[in-house]
Parts: sequence; structure tokens; C-alpha cells
Amino acid sequence: MATAASAVGLGNIWRFPYLAAKYGGGIFLIVYLVLVVTFGHTMLMSETALGRMTRKSPVGAFQSFGNSLPLRFGGWINAMVPMLIVPYYAFIGGWIIKYLYEYFAGNTAALAGDNYFIDFITSFSSAEICFIVFTVLTFLVVLMGVGNGVEKASKVMMPILILLAIVIVVYTIAQPGALEGVRYFLIPNFRKFSLMTLVAAMGQMFYSLSIAMGVLYTYGSYLKKDGDIEKTSRLVEGFDTGVSMLAGLMIIPAVFAFSGGSEDSIQSGPFLMFVTIPKVFENMGLGNIPGIVFFLMVLFAALTSSISMMESGVSTFMDQTGWSRGKCSVLMGMIMLLLGTACALGYSAWSAVQPLGMSILDFFDFLTNSILMPIAALSTCLLIIKKAGVGSVVDEIRSSSRFKSQRTYTFFIRYLSPIILLVILLSSIAAAMGLLRI
Ligand code: PHE
Repeated sequence: MATAASAVGLGNIWRFPYLAAKYGGGIFLIVYLVLVVTFGHTMLMSETALGRMTRKSPVGAFQSFGNSLPLRFGGWINAMVPMLIVPYYAFIGGWIIKYLYEYFAGNTAALAGDNYFIDFITSFSSAEICFIVFTVLTFLVVLMGVGNGVEKASKVMMPILILLAIVIVVYTIAQPGALEGVRYFLIPNFRKFSLMTLVAAMGQMFYSLSIAMGVLYTYGSYLKKDGDIEKTSRLVEGFDTGVSMLAGLMIIPAVFAFSGGSEDSIQSGPFLMFVTIPKVFENMGLGNIPGIVFFLMVLFAALTSSISMMESGVSTFMDQTGWSRGKCSVLMGMIMLLLGTACALGYSAWSAVQPLGMSILDFFDFLTNSILMPIAALSTCLLIIKKAGVGSVVDEIRSSSRFKSQRTYTFFIRYLSPIILLVILLSSIAAAMGLLRI
């Protein structure tokens, strides 16, 4: 349950719908679903099993098989990914703070305006203040070590969020023009497939299931010897994917109903949720209530995720340096402030700084999801094939599961996963060098 709760976050509500919209709707969805039940399942089980086997978080888990350079690198790259994601995650967390604040202030109609979001994001000071509020909230929870309390609260908030999402989905789909959006999201158009569909779906799968971030090693290390790894993994996959699909059904039809489904609005990327959802709420005619409830729930989902990412960074630093929690929290806090502020500047004073032709936020997102995560996942595959042994990981899973998917698992971890990962990595690098369209 804890893993499922941690898996659900901005990845599902904010990131999944805009990627699905951008990369062709139905075709993206199919590729994503196939990846989750095959490749995602393999990686989810592998990381959890390695965590339970070694009883360590990633850096320690890799090093329990030796101290060579590749092993140290493998552990560190897994540990570094959440440290690089959490700054821009908190920056987006700031957008939620902003919207929540404005809904409380009763500005429902203003928020639904076409240019509201763009005006907000391009004014450095307001975006930065909201980002700092979110970062400080995360920091305080991690510093006090009360993550469990928040995690418990989120178990109440999560069902409310899901119920609310269902209400919004039903309402949106009933609007004129929305069915076109449902069709776009659910029915695959194979002509829209490209290599980048695969790359984007793979990155999203990592992000959403918290794979290739070292987080599952840590959770696995807490798992009891009789905890069923296979069943737990299936549960996480199902729950997480269910929430993503709900979010897709909530946001994509809204683009068609309220923004006409034009090419531009569909491709609008990271801003999508913040532009379409306020239009739905304004149209509902219930004042600021839907906005307050919705953004409050999303804030919780985002906070639990940012807390666990920051916590993972802090515990890595604590293990490796022997420093206190306080000192390591401050260090992680500084990293967040520094990189998050760079994202904020990327939309204002530094808008001319466009690494690889992207905004700074998109660049961090691309770097972590399309480059670093495939490398981290590849390291896990190699660790299993070369050091731990596929047999002993299989034994670890079998010791507490019926392991119905053992054959598929072995085939994937030994052959298919490393190959797919290599293809993904090479295409990302090609895209970064301008050889492929991102
Ligand atoms: N999987 C979460 C999401 O979809 C992000 C996350 C990553 C949460 C790592 C916890 C740990 O948003």
C-alpha cells in the first residue's frame, strides 16, 4: 500500500495526460499499457527483490556485491535520479499552491482565462514564491521525520481524490464535443506511432511507477520475508495505471470540449492541466469549491511524492557521509532551491537559455526520464545478470510468491529489457543531438 501511495503523484495527474495528448493519444496509451505489464512489472519486481535481498537502499545494495567502479556508479545513478527530479517536482508543486491560493481567494473565473497560466509562470517572483512555499513544506516534514504521518493522511485523501476525479470525468464527458477527446485518448491511430512515442512512454512508466529512482530498493528493504513481491507489484501497477487513465479521461476530453481540441492546445505540454481543469471548474458553476477540493487533493499527492524523493536523497547522504539528518536535509534543501530556481528563471529572465531547445524544466525532465533512468535501469539489469544472478533473484521472489510470470520475467530481465533500454537510451541521445524529433 505504501508503494502504491508513493507511486501516485504528479506523474499520474499532471504528466501522464499531457504526454498522452502530445504523443498521439490512443497509440501512446497502448504502448504505455503494454510496457507496464511486461517491462515495468519486471523492473518493479527486480528492484524490490534486490532491496529485500540486500536489506539496503541502492548505493548499499549495489555495493553489497562488490566495490568496483561500475557497482558504485550503478548505485549512485539510481540514488541521484530522485535528487534531480525533486527540484522541478517542487517547482510544479508551487503551481498547485498558487492555484489553491487563488481558488481560496475566490478567483475561479480569472483562473479559467486563456492567458492566466502563462502570465503567472512568466512572472518570476510569484512562481518563485510558490515554489519556495512547497519546498519549505517538504523540507519541514523531512527534517522532522514525520513522513509516515503524511503518508497516513494521504491514504484518506487518495480515495477522495479518486472519487472526485470520477465525478469530474463524468461531468466533462457529458459536455458537447468531449467525446471526440475520449476517442482521441482511447482509440489508437497507428500512423501516429514514432520512436519518440516509445521513449516517452518508457520514461513516463519509470516516473509513474517510481522505477529507476532507487526508491523501490529502499521499500523492498523494508518488506517482510513473506511479503508477496509479485502480487504487490501487480497491485501497484494496477492502481497507478488506473489513476493515470482517470486523469487522462479527465483532462484530454476537457481540451476538446473547452479549447476545441486544436493541435496547439493538445500539444501544450506541461501547462495542460493548469489550463484545462480551471475551465471545467468554472463551467460547473459551483464557485470555488471544486477547485479547492481538487487542488488540495493534488497537493497532498504531490507532497507525499516530493517528501519520499527528498527523504531518499537525505538518507543516501546520511548513509554515505555519516552526517546528521539536519545537515543532510539542509544540503538536499539547497539542491532543490538551486535547481528549482533555475526552472523558474527558465520561464522568465533566462527564457533564452534553451538547453537542447527546451525550457529548463523540460530539460531536467528529459535528462532524468529519458537519459538517466534508462541508465539506472540498465545498471539494475546488469547487476542481476552479472553479479547477483538471475537465479538468486528468482529464488528471492519465489520464496514468497507463486511467481506465475517467472518465464516471462527471466526472458525479459536477461534479454529483452537490456535491449529495449539500450534502444531507448540511444534514441534519447539521438534526439538530444537533434537527429530525432522530440
Ligand atoms: N511516482 C511518483 C509520481 O508519479 C513520483 C515519485 C517518485 C514518488 C519517487 C515517490 C518516489 O508522481
